[in-house]
Amino acid sequence: MSQVLVASNRGPVSFSLSDDGALTMRRGGGGLVSGLAGIAAAPGDASPDVLWVCSSLGEADRTAARGSPDGRLDLAGYETGGAAVRMLDIPAGTFHRAYNAVANSTLWFVHHLLYDTPRSPHFDARTRRDWQSYEAYNAAFADALARDAAPGAKTAIQDYHLSLAPRMLRERRPDLRIVHFSHTPWAPPDYFRLLPDDIGTQILLGILGADHAGFLTERWASAFLDCCESLPGTRVDRASRTVSCGGHVTRVGVHGLGVDGTALRQRAAEQDVVERARALREQVGDRQLIVRVDRTELSKNIVRGLAAYRELLVNHPEWRGRVVHLAFAYPSRYDLREYREYTEAVERTAKQITDEFGTADWDPLIVQVNDDYPRSLAAYGLADVLLVNPIRDGMNLVAKEGPVLSQRGCALVLSREAGAAAELSEGALTINPYDVSQTAEALHRALLMPRAERAERCGRLAAAATALPPHRWFADQLAALD
Ligand code: G6P
Repeated sequence: MSQVLVASNRGPVSFSLSDDGALTMRRGGGGLVSGLAGIAAAPGDASPDVLWVCSSLGEADRTAARGSPDGRLDLAGYETGGAAVRMLDIPAGTFHRAYNAVANSTLWFVHHLLYDTPRSPHFDARTRRDWQSYEAYNAAFADALARDAAPGAKTAIQDYHLSLAPRMLRERRPDLRIVHFSHTPWAPPDYFRLLPDDIGTQILLGILGADHAGFLTERWASAFLDCCESLPGTRVDRASRTVSCGGHVTRVGVHGLGVDGTALRQRAAEQDVVERARALREQVGDRQLIVRVDRTELSKNIVRGLAAYRELLVNHPEWRGRVVHLAFAYPSRYDLREYREYTEAVERTAKQITDEFGTADWDPLIVQVNDDYPRSLAAYGLADVLLVNPIRDGMNLVAKEGPVLSQRGCALVLSREAGAAAELSEGALTINPYDVSQTAEALHRALLMPRAERAERCGRLAAAATALPPHRWFADQLAALD
C-alpha cells in the first residue's frame, strides 16, 4: 500500500527483447518521463514512498510485467526518482486502440491543433469501438491504483492518455485525493468541439473527477476552464479557479515544470557524453553550430525548421561553410502513418538541403533519426544556437535543458507557442513557428549575437529553466491536495 502514487502511460523504462529471449531495459523518452524522473529527488529531503504505475507499451514490456511479481520491476540504477515501478500488462489490442487511435491520433491532434485537410476529423462507429478500449485502459489504471493506494493516499494521474481515470478512481476509492496533470497544451473551446459531444463531455467529466487539475501554463489552464464553461451542469468560478460539477469541486492550478540543473550537469559530465562531444566537435570543426533535439513529431515543426535553415543559407550566403545544423530527431509513434510520413518528409527535406549546398569539405546539415540521449546532451554543450520551434507544445524541456548545459553560451530561438515561452521569452529570440522567414532571420541574428550578450542571455535562461525543478513541481501538485 503506497501513500503517494503516480500513473502515466509511459514509465521511466521500457524493454526490448533480443533474439535469445533476453530482456534489455532502457530509459523512456519524452518530456513527461524527464520531468517525473526527478520527482522524489529533492536534495536532502526524505524520499516519499512513491509507486509509479505505468503501461506496458509492447510485447517485451508485457513479458517483463508478467515475469515480475505483481508487475513490480527491479529497477536498480534507473532514474525513477526513487519510486517503485509497477507495469500493467494491458492486452495488445486494447493498448493499440487506446494509445494510438484515441490518445495519439485524436486527443493529441486536438490539443496541438494538428488537423489539416488531408487528415481532417472523421468520427464513426470505429471511433466508438476505439473509445471503449480507451475506457478499458483507463479502468485498468483505476483498478490498479485503487488496489495499491493506502487509505487517504495522494494519487497523481498524468496526461491525456488517462483523462477518464480520475473519475473512475474516485468512484472506486472516494477516500483518495486525486490530481490530474496535463503535460500537453489544452485546446481552445472551438477546437475542442471537433470531438464528438459524448467523447468531449466524458473527457472533461473524467478530469473533473480529480480534486485538482494541473496545467503547465496559465494559457492551457484557462483554455480548460473555457471548455468546462460550455459543459451543462458545471459552474466555473474564474476568481477561485474552481469548477463545480455534480456536488464535487475541482481546483485548477498552474505548475510550471523545469529541470534539475545539478542532476543534469552531473549526467552530462559522464564519460559517454564526453566521448560523444569530442566526436561531434571533430565532425563540425570550429564552425558555429545550430542544434535541435526532438522526437520526430508533427507538432515539433521540424520540416519548417529545416526550411528556415535553408532560407538562412539562401538569404545570408556568408554563412555557407561557416555553420552546421545538427538536428537530432528520435523515432516516435511509428505505428501511426502520419508519423512515418512525417519522418520521411524530414529526411527528404534534409537531403534537398544537403544536395543543394553541401561541398566536398562542408556538410551543412547532419540529421540523425535515432535515439541517443548522451549524444543529445553532448550537442547541448556545443551549441551556439538552439532551435526550438514547435507549432504548439505543453512546455518543451529541450528549451530548458539546452541553456543549462551550454558551454558556449547558446542563443535560444524559441517558438512563442511553446509553454516554455511563458518563462523564457525574456532571454530567447521568440518566433511565430509558422513564419519560416522570421525563423531564418532569428537564426541569423542568433549567429551574429556578440558572445557577451549570448552568455548573459544564456545565464538568464538557465536560471529560469532551473527555477522549478521536477521535485518542486511534483511536491506542488501534492501540496495542492492538502
Ligand atoms: C509528450 C507527452 C507524454 C509522452 C511523450 C512521449 O511529452 O505529453 O505523455 O510520454 O510526449 O510520447 P510517447 O508517445 O512516446 O510516450
